[in-house]
Amino acid sequence: MSEHTPFYVTTPIYYVNDRPHVGHAYTTLAADTLTRWHRLMGAPAYSLTGTDEHGQKIEQAANKAGVTPQQHADTYSAPFREMLATIGAAPNDFIRTTEPRHKAVVSAIWEKMLAAGDIYLGKYEGWYSVSDEAYFTEDELVNGKAPSGHEVTWMVEESYFFRLSQYGERLLQYMEAHPEFVQPRSRANEIKRFVEGGLQDISISRANFSWGIPVPNDDKHVIYVWVDALSNYISALGGPEGELYERFWPHAHHLIGKDILRFHAVYWPCFLMSAGLPLPQQIFAHGWWTVEGEKMSKSKGNAIDPNAAIEAVGADAFRYFLLREIAFGSDGDFSQSALLTRINSDLANDYGNLLNRTLGMLGKYRASVTPAPVRPGDEGWGEHEAWLLEVAQSARASLSEAMSAFKFHDALRAIWSLVSAGNKYVDLTAPWTLAKAGEERAADLDRALYTLCETLRVVGIWTQPFLPTKSAELLDALKVAPEARLWSATEAWGALPQGETLAKPNALFPRVEGPLLLTRADVERASKGEAQAKSSPQADKKADKKADKKADKKAEDEAHAEFDDFLKLHIKVAEVLTAERHPNADRLLVLTLNAGEEAPRTVCAGIASAYEPSALVGQRVALLANLKPRKIRGIVSQGMLLAAGEGEGVRLMSVDPSVPVGSRVS
Ligand code: ME8
Ligand code: MG
Repeated sequence: MSEHTPFYVTTPIYYVNDRPHVGHAYTTLAADTLTRWHRLMGAPAYSLTGTDEHGQKIEQAANKAGVTPQQHADTYSAPFREMLATIGAAPNDFIRTTEPRHKAVVSAIWEKMLAAGDIYLGKYEGWYSVSDEAYFTEDELVNGKAPSGHEVTWMVEESYFFRLSQYGERLLQYMEAHPEFVQPRSRANEIKRFVEGGLQDISISRANFSWGIPVPNDDKHVIYVWVDALSNYISALGGPEGELYERFWPHAHHLIGKDILRFHAVYWPCFLMSAGLPLPQQIFAHGWWTVEGEKMSKSKGNAIDPNAAIEAVGADAFRYFLLREIAFGSDGDFSQSALLTRINSDLANDYGNLLNRTLGMLGKYRASVTPAPVRPGDEGWGEHEAWLLEVAQSARASLSEAMSAFKFHDALRAIWSLVSAGNKYVDLTAPWTLAKAGEERAADLDRALYTLCETLRVVGIWTQPFLPTKSAELLDALKVAPEARLWSATEAWGALPQGETLAKPNALFPRVEGPLLLTRADVERASKGEAQAKSSPQADKKADKKADKKADKKAEDEAHAEFDDFLKLHIKVAEVLTAERHPNADRLLVLTLNAGEEAPRTVCAGIASAYEPSALVGQRVALLANLKPRKIRGIVSQGMLLAAGEGEGVRLMSVDPSVPVGSRVS
């Protein structure tokens, strides 16, 4: 790979039938890391993700929920877009298959395949699985069900077919000539064997539902989801005539999970050959994540929720774990203990330690000012420096080699060989003893400190694609100029300038202790409030979001309140027992109330600018008692006080002292 070859990377477009989980996050952040890597090398890179929104499954789910398919798609697409910022991914584009720009290109590709004589009308019979959006032959069924375990029904329908059977030979030849086309190698062999077994024509339209892109000139049919979905990789570039297409399509890399390999490595190339379009450069199928040894499933709720995981450990640590733990291409297990081990040993101990020791000693011995560079051949350049540089150079070569083969774990291993060497260098040079020796060893101490800072600079530049946020913080602390954060700036040793006062960043890689809330079920439990000790702002947010969604659906009915609605609110008379200022929020008071219940309640109220806490004790107030408990700046509030007005003018609704505590307002 020349350093300036453009690079185009895609993720699958995700179905809008599920919320994002760690599997989706994985492909997306692998693509993000590759994009950042190519930019680090100085190459133009373009990266795409999005959502797959058509098909019977979506139509049915929408019907069931009483919304239009488009509304359903909107609701479910949004979290995939929101996930990007959460995991620190910044793709160039997010495509949705319901967008007009996409539909136009799908129709155009259909027309090209039709013009090539590869589409004909026929009858389709077979076992159809709605969940898989696929037909199966009798011998493909497992115990009367799809191989995925989903129900199948026998269907006969008129359908357009694509002459896949015409392309097997050409595909095999292409793969022969382009051994890198499907990766890893084992997957390519799998595909070869499948194609050698003979390809059947495939049905590429559906007439039994309507949520899709209509077949040109025959709108009884919609285009089969996979013709639709796969075309996103080109529609997002503006179609085969677009400028982006010209520039990036020849360098396309499709990252996918192994579940959808056949669609990408067999159907897609054949569609493209038929349409007279060049094939992507590479299809890379990665492995499958399980959680604590089990398959992720909606019913178990054991899917890792990226929001929760990132709330618990931070985005960069999450990225590090996923990319370091397994080879890209192999299956992996996401376990809490493996996550904690990676974070605490690789990040907190190794990287964090090197960073803290280096900047700590620089602060202590040199008032945080970088000493003069010491480079190979300079006076004082000794065996320890030579050894460290050797490690750095070999790490640089391994890193670049690993990244050309999408071996993220090897790439990180290579970087960490320099991190470890840096820590070893500290022990070898023992700067604290040099410091004790005073003036006599001042030059040696300068050299050791400079060498360590330089090591951090190099590591910081290399880790950018993997740990974008933390690397930026480190490079900021080291005062490395933005334009000096490229790969090329790590070729020569000793580029960190002399005389800069370095900042000490906040602990970049703190230790993390379990147990962590990581799965959807964890979040669910926490948001129920039953375990208040476990509740987190994140869980509150989740609960709020869920409530929002429900609320949206009911918005229409709610323009008017029914009497029943009013009855849902338990407003009670309560007496203030104690009142004090909220430790973390100027605006809030924390009150304990007697609401005529077994135990007093704690409630946070935004009335600190209007009331002196002591003046409230003994007052009777109106409490909305059945509001879901919420953590407000660290304190769980079990209800809400009724009040009117704003700021200093806010006043609590008062209640005549003769009304007994606990009485219901009605
Ligand atoms: O298949 N481990 O969408 P999808 C690793 N819309 N990766 C996983 C994973 C896991 N346990 N679970 C999901 C579709 N993935 C089609 C794609 S593309 C033109 C159309 C990731 O929502 C992995 O990338 O089922 C997998 O291929 C993808 O999510 C499937 O997403
Ligand atoms: Mg799937």
